[in-house]
Amino acid sequence: MAVQPRDARSSSGPSRRSATEHGRSTASRGPATTRRARWLASASTPTRPNIIPMLQSIQEQYGYLPRQEIAKAAEQCEMSLAQAYGVATFYNFFRLQPPGRHTLRVCRGTACHVRGSAGLLDYVEQTLGIRAGETTPDGEFSLETVACLGCCSRAPVVVADGEIHGRMSRQEVVRLLRRLERSEKRD
Ligand code: FES
Repeated sequence: MAVQPRDARSSSGPSRRSATEHGRSTASRGPATTRRARWLASASTPTRPNIIPMLQSIQEQYGYLPRQEIAKAAEQCEMSLAQAYGVATFYNFFRLQPPGRHTLRVCRGTACHVRGSAGLLDYVEQTLGIRAGETTPDGEFSLETVACLGCCSRAPVVVADGEIHGRMSRQEVVRLLRRLERSEKRD
């Protein structure tokens, strides 16, 4: 068996940011992160296309960002491949590997955190043998974290293949994983 922005718990480090964090002030971030945020802002100018919507479009088409497509986008944006990768790896919204057949997202918003989402995420990671942001070796499950999904009254919330499951317990997560294993993928 087997995405938030990957958070600080994931292997790609705390510098990645979710799509919902794009507009957050950089005032509370460290100097390195702030410098990188300034660089990201300068990566798009009125005279050249914005790489971020291009990468989003690629991911919508492929489910992740294939290297050759990143290279094409970089060329169109007059950026180096390394710069384009810099953008893609900054936001945990972007995937650099194909997703698993099923995607599980554990909400890490405040209400879900208060209701135990951190422990739930730990449990899912142990059960699947992967960390958030990874896919199981058999390609069955991808595990991601997300910011608030807007249904805080149902915390803690897990999204499985786009379907929201509220008030989740460890036992319910196990049942959900078994059900997903037996089912076909839904979008
Ligand atoms: S914090 Fe999880 S749905 Fe709002």
